[in-house]
Amino acid sequence: MALAARLEPRLPAAPPPGGSPGGCMPAPAPPVGWPDGRAPSPRGGAPVADQAPFPLDLEWKRERRLWGPALHPMCSYLAAFPAGLPHAFIARYTRPGDVVLDPFSGRGTTPLQACAEGRIGVGNDLNPLAHLLTAAKVDPPGPAELGRRVDDLEAGWAARPAPAAWPSRGDDVTGSASGVPPEVVLAFHPRTLEQLAYLRAVLDPAGRVDRFLLATIAGILHGRGRAFLSTLMPNAFAMPPGYVREYARATGFHPEPRDVFAALRLKTQWLLREPLPPARGIAILGDARDAGTRTAAILRERALPGRVRLVVSSPPYLRVVRYGAANWLRLWFLGIDPGGLDARLDHAHRPRAYLAFLREVLADLRVVLADDAVVVLVLGDVESDGGHRLRREVGLAARAWEEAAEPEGYRLAGIAADEVAAHRKSTRIWGDEAGQATRTDRLLVIAPTELGRRRALAGAALPVDWRWPPEPRAGVVVAATQRTGQPPRPAGPRPGIVVVSGGGSPGAPGARAGVPVADGAGRGAGPAGQGRR
Ligand SMILES: C[S@@+](CC[C@H](N)C(=O)[O-])C[C@H]1O[C@@H](n2cnc3c(N)ncnc32)[C@H](O)[C@@H]1O
Repeated sequence: MALAARLEPRLPAAPPPGGSPGGCMPAPAPPVGWPDGRAPSPRGGAPVADQAPFPLDLEWKRERRLWGPALHPMCSYLAAFPAGLPHAFIARYTRPGDVVLDPFSGRGTTPLQACAEGRIGVGNDLNPLAHLLTAAKVDPPGPAELGRRVDDLEAGWAARPAPAAWPSRGDDVTGSASGVPPEVVLAFHPRTLEQLAYLRAVLDPAGRVDRFLLATIAGILHGRGRAFLSTLMPNAFAMPPGYVREYARATGFHPEPRDVFAALRLKTQWLLREPLPPARGIAILGDARDAGTRTAAILRERALPGRVRLVVSSPPYLRVVRYGAANWLRLWFLGIDPGGLDARLDHAHRPRAYLAFLREVLADLRVVLADDAVVVLVLGDVESDGGHRLRREVGLAARAWEEAAEPEGYRLAGIAADEVAAHRKSTRIWGDEAGQATRTDRLLVIAPTELGRRRALAGAALPVDWRWPPEPRAGVVVAATQRTGQPPRPAGPRPGIVVVSGGGSPGAPGARAGVPVADGAGRGAGPAGQGRR
């Protein structure tokens, strides 16, 4: 179905919570909390993190910012984690052919990383933008097929109906008949907007190639630099419409012409510069509360391994990001109502409701977990609520264990704390206090059984190979699996995969492939500004 049929552009009325980029956030309160900065256990006594620290070296923090497959930075996404984080667990706790699930997949970091390492990456999210990005990444087209489609689209554009039927000036598409919101018109040069309107009408998100193009356009829609179609807003999020109007007026913003087809070619060539991931993954649009059940059904339908060996996921942060409001321009392009989306997503809960929500998610996940599965939840220990500084941390990971995971029969392997440097948080763009929204991420590592808990602990100390892209040997696997479309069979040692001797589970201590080499040699940032997250 053509995308235009579902287009009902509507703009959010209010700026995103957590503060608007216009500096509306209140001034940070002086730091408060416990003298040693640790959250106490909700049950009293020593902090849970101290009782069961997970013995993991957070080595991904030493890697370069864009470590990992070229497809990751397709589109900026607030609160995405770095690709190295899932890699640290995929390499330790899974083998090629295993299923790796993220019930809150966001822009698809975990499932893409899993596919890139020959696992079956499954990503579920309730946000259609997240679903589009995940789907585009876990089942990308080849560069030749994609290039042909862009050529055809450009030819279709050139042969479009005469201006009487298709307005040739930007002003002409701003009328109520076209339904293009005035803030969208402000953002783009008239010709660029015409091209975007054409593409949004003809691209079909049900098709693999068109989906990839839609996701790519979402990524280059706005940002600072020549690679972006509008320079009115930063790349990470869209400024609120009211702010946009005021900003454009105050600065006399005049959009420069950009050719969408040229920009698309440049960006897709950059994204597809490496061999495609050796395994195809699965993207599911749905609520995380039944992601386990739906994943089990889909794996069964496709005759894939029926159980998930690893979950690496970051549930929504507490009242930090509103994905609809923060992405209203991308959502306009995709024909999604931002307000409706924000009403559906579970990012506005108070802690008690949030923990009840998480408990439901974990309860349903059990149906699809392998007995020895490992589950890693990255939980931001929020220090602000809707832009207001909290008097103390919520202690979310400890409470998630005690109020959501333990009651569902999970076993605790431990909690690792990740002190996030404020300057590296994507929310930093909101102002001085941005990084304080979640200054500490905690990794809650749990398992459905004692077997899984032991495997989680035994694997934590295994060294991991950090070379990327993989060595030529892995390229051979890539070519073979792309032809058959099948996930790879368990293979011998190759970079990026921990291999264990003695036929044991991958989590057991043993031999490994390759030598850990931290790849500090950056691959560059791509076409101007496109390497940015
Ligand atoms: C912190 S983000 C995950 C980011 C992801 N780890 C990445 O690297 O891109 C949390 C995600 O939860 C999603 N979400 C919120 N409520 C949900 C629900 N009820 N079911 C599924 N996904 C939901 C949001 O759309 C968002 O993508």
